Amino acid sequence: MTSAALATELREARERMLILVRDLGGAREFGPRLAIVNPPRWEVGHVGWFQEYWCLRRLDEDRFSAARGESIVPEADRLYNSATVPHATRWTLPLPEFDATLRYCEEVRRRTEDRLAARCSSDDAYFARLAVRHEDMHAEAFHYTRQTLGYEAPALEVPEHPIGDLRAGDAEIAGGPLELGEAPSAVFAFDNEKWAHPVRVRPFRLSRVAVSNAEFAAFVQADGYRRRELWCESGWRWLASADAFSDCAIASGSSQVNTPGARSRALLFCVTRWDHRCCVPDRRCGVDDRAMGWCSRELGRMVARLR
Ligand SMILES: [Fe+2]
Repeated sequence: MTSAALATELREARERMLILVRDLGGAREFGPRLAIVNPPRWEVGHVGWFQEYWCLRRLDEDRFSAARGESIVPEADRLYNSATVPHATRWTLPLPEFDATLRYCEEVRRRTEDRLAARCSSDDAYFARLAVRHEDMHAEAFHYTRQTLGYEAPALEVPEHPIGDLRAGDAEIAGGPLELGEAPSAVFAFDNEKWAHPVRVRPFRLSRVAVSNAEFAAFVQADGYRRRELWCESGWRWLASADAFSDCAIASGSSQVNTPGARSRALLFCVTRWDHRCCVPDRRCGVDDRAMGWCSRELGRMVARLR
């Protein structure tokens, strides 16, 4: 991939994030102190910081070296490094203003583009791809932050699913041997995808499309978490041990399910995630998610290989 193509990916990721956050300034830029969201002013700056940290500030050729140059923002590491800045403190940090934070992000992206045009080693390309994926992950986070806080949907173009197409129902997956993970020859791999290794997958069924919030809400309203006949043996055992769904609630006039328990929040996150993934084809997905319904990259590939 050329530096121009990487720059395009960086720009597309940024354009998408900006659509998600441009109305989160002002009264919304901090928001309530919830364990499952970040204050938008912090999170936007963190995205810019991450890209700058990996794409612009590396001082050594060695990709594992921790040596870094200065940031555009003074004390940026003490503000935005998610590995060292406790979540609960992010609302009270001396963060730059929201507009200044957006300008910081844009300056980092612009310099990264210039840097890639001047030099694009394999490590430069790797960290540019890492920054794109990191920004995409935070785009997902901005989606669920908006949903959690009851904000209007972002002004993204969302392709409509045709009604009554062939994607309804379950796909029967025969199972079999599978190379799970990325091969060393892969263009990009996260640490936890290394390396491909053989596993054996038992036969299973998988819905062709993701569960929507409306379907999830209907399931909860139908008392699905208390109806033994809807669960397999292991699922029912897990449900009993989870003890997290008795407090599911649905706001009137909404299809959003409020699930205060930690495990149910994780489930809601999945539902939310798949809704967006399902509706917005991922340009980097190895499988056509419009056909697959699901778009976990690894899951999609796995199913495709087993078919
Ligand atoms: Fe992050």
